Amino acid sequence: MAKLKSWSEVARGGVLALGLVLAAHGAQAAIDVDAAKETARQNNCFKCHGMEKAKDGPAWKAVAAKYKGKPEAFERLTKHLTTGEKAKFPDGHEENHKIVKVANQAELKNLIDWILSL
Ligand code: HEC
Repeated sequence: MAKLKSWSEVARGGVLALGLVLAAHGAQAAIDVDAAKETARQNNCFKCHGMEKAKDGPAWKAVAAKYKGKPEAFERLTKHLTTGEKAKFPDGHEENHKIVKVANQAELKNLIDWILSL
């Protein structure tokens, strides 16, 4: 009997573990909008970008639309935000794009996922 009970506990533990894996997977895909905005605010991104309105840089909604359905979007924006590549301004001059300051990869991913979700 004791053995049977422990087997059912093992089985239940397995179901629980699966549930946790699924939950973690779901959490990974979820975007923390407030945290993303805070990252953008701290980095002064809004000086040159609006979510809906173009300033010196394109509106992020327009960026999301441009990359919609493109599998390389995330990698593209990671490069854009971490390498200081040349950015073309509306008046035609070019300067290195701001390199984003984040605490870790997760913060960067959350910011990019958010921009692409707009
Ligand atoms: C000094 C102004 C300025 C600041 C600050 C700035 N950007 Fe930009 N950004 C630009 C300009 C100009 C472009 C257009 C680049 C081009 O098309 O060559 C751009 C383009 C972009 C794009 C589109 C890239 C693409 O591949 O289409 C994204 C996304 C972006 N910026 C995000 C950010 C984020 C996030 C921050 C804050 C960490 C930020 N920007 C800060 C000026 C700025």
